[in-house]
Amino acid sequence: MGKLVAVLSGKGGTGKTSLCAGIASALAQSGERVLCIDCDIGLRNLDISLGLTDYCALTFADVYSGSYPLNKATQHPEFSNLFFLTAPANCSAADIDGEKFSAFLEEAKKQFQFVLLDAPAGIEAGFQLCARQADQIILVTSADPASVRDAARAGELLEKMGKTQVRVIVNRVNEKLYRAVRVTIDDVMDRAGLPLIGIVEDDPDVTLSAAFETPLLCYNKRSAAAKACKRIAKRIQGFPEPIPYK
Ligand SMILES: Nc1ncnc2c1ncn2[C@@H]1O[C@H](COP(=O)(O)OP(=O)(O)OP(=O)(O)O)[C@@H](O)[C@H]1O
Ligand SMILES: [Mg+2]
Repeated sequence: MGKLVAVLSGKGGTGKTSLCAGIASALAQSGERVLCIDCDIGLRNLDISLGLTDYCALTFADVYSGSYPLNKATQHPEFSNLFFLTAPANCSAADIDGEKFSAFLEEAKKQFQFVLLDAPAGIEAGFQLCARQADQIILVTSADPASVRDAARAGELLEKMGKTQVRVIVNRVNEKLYRAVRVTIDDVMDRAGLPLIGIVEDDPDVTLSAAFETPLLCYNKRSAAAKACKRIAKRIQGFPEPIPYK
């Protein structure tokens, strides 16, 4: 049985979609069979970070409604183990049939070793939909106080939902800025009240790879963010990969 991993935040724009794509690519590159699902209904853009804009991808609603089988998910041209379903564009998370969605995710877990969900911002219906069945949750935050506060709030909600496997990625880490505002990764973890699964540097290659609609790991596999995604993928796989931070 595969593992369902939801990438959530609270505050918008923290890097969920970019990191979900990077981690999914890294997992697939290391041999895992991965399904990546855009759950940002109405505001989908995971296809851009995966470099799949030219592909006419099925939506997860096409599959959970029974119109198409799961094996019609778009196969990534660069990472043959990576498959993709986009989000429906013309509805809201509240329109999604929870029972059918759950059954669909259970089936996906049978067919893939990892199923990654790219959640929308906020703590409403889309957040709940992604978190409900997740075996592991990754909360993405930056060091900015609003983002950390929202991550802490999301963490409280997840605790109420009985979620125990919740870890944080501190994204867009910039040592110079951290020194200037006297903040450390430990401060961010303390304020979020959650353990760490990784840190990702502020790296222009993340934005550039999306601008060129190329997966980060293909755009520059040696970039700091690509390396960080590979390390996080290893931790998700359960390998003892140390987290280097000051
Ligand atoms: N580590 C990073 N370094 C530099 N830029 C980054 C990094 N991570 C994300 N970004 C940039 O931040 C912006 C927001 O990223 P992204 O769309 O992945 O966030 P999101 O959390 O999915 O947003 P939303 O809540 O709207 O879905 C993008 O322009 C992206 O290129
Ligand atoms: Mg997003």
